[in-house]
Amino acid sequence: MTNNSSNSLVKLMLMLLAFPFFAQKMEAQQLSLRDAFQDKFLIGTAINMWQVRQGGEKMHNLIKSQYSAIVAENCMKAEAVQPIENIFNFKDGDDLVEFARKNNQVVTGHCLIWHSQTPTWFFNNDKGVQVDRETMIDRMRKHIYTVVGHFKGKVKGWDVVNEAIEGDGSLRRSNFYNIIGEDYIRLAFQFAHEADPDAELYYNDYSMDNPAKREAVIKLIRDLKAHGLRIDAIGMQSHLGLDSNLKQYEQSIEAYAKEGVKVMATELEVSVLPWPSDQQTAEISTNFAYQETLNPFKNGITAEMQAKQDKFMVELFKIYKKHSKDITRITFWGVSDGDSWKNDFPVKGRTDYPLPFGRNLEAKPWVKKIID
Ligand code: XIL
Repeated sequence: MTNNSSNSLVKLMLMLLAFPFFAQKMEAQQLSLRDAFQDKFLIGTAINMWQVRQGGEKMHNLIKSQYSAIVAENCMKAEAVQPIENIFNFKDGDDLVEFARKNNQVVTGHCLIWHSQTPTWFFNNDKGVQVDRETMIDRMRKHIYTVVGHFKGKVKGWDVVNEAIEGDGSLRRSNFYNIIGEDYIRLAFQFAHEADPDAELYYNDYSMDNPAKREAVIKLIRDLKAHGLRIDAIGMQSHLGLDSNLKQYEQSIEAYAKEGVKVMATELEVSVLPWPSDQQTAEISTNFAYQETLNPFKNGITAEMQAKQDKFMVELFKIYKKHSKDITRITFWGVSDGDSWKNDFPVKGRTDYPLPFGRNLEAKPWVKKIID
């Protein structure tokens, strides 16, 4: 063999060897949730500050190529932005907004009034005694005016009130409810609108497929509208499991849309792990003791379980597509399985697989399926 022909043979062999690598790379580049759904709705993800600052190039490229919307997983909550009365901290939120701006992504503010992750100073005076209604209203107004005012023009819309309704449809007896009374919800929407008349305003909650909750949310929408207040959309958190009732879920989308508001899935993930009781919830204080039987996939998900999730996600996205004229955004609660809160909720230390991308940022089989 001449030198020339052996060189060409080596080149050919190298090309053949490299082909799968390039094919995979090309596919990864083409596979974009953001692009695939751009005419239907925004596709979002919740991100934390580690991802913003230390996530690295691969993570950043993924967030940029896959998502058209961003929400802060924690850094815009009351305990983060106003940990001490009148001491506001917007460094993390500003960095997150800047990250999204560079990626040309829409930012949602999460969240203004919520019974969780709100510092205790909010409800008490300096002697630790609960404040009166007027003080509480003043604190709520100040918080909302300052936070919404700070992000004015940078955040498209706010989860104004989060999780105000219980599973039986009654209003949660939160400190806001107990101190102010049921008009705290109206006041929160009023203050948010006064602070930024251009911002969209949302009510956000979990278990939104539950019929009792659905009815209560409809009542809430009507009440806000009857008082001349702005409400643009209902956020269905969508912390789902493979046994979630998609029929009821779809009925809620239809029912909210019928009230003349848009609908969004705001915290979507689909857990593959068993729920330890018969009452599913996303109330963050819920906690069950760890047991090995509750953590069946710690060394990897089985093909059978992955296939179940694939099927569920395809069904779910058929529903989203069918109702796309009423749906403005589908946001996943996290980027990859490794950083999902579900690994620690409602049982600490499990290994869950609830998101579109796995621990090495590889796309799940269903991602390609829903794009197709
Ligand atoms: C969760 C975050 O993902 C966790 O990092 C944090 O420790 C607790 O809160 N409903 C909501 C979200 O509205 O803000 C919650 O996020 C999950 C349930």
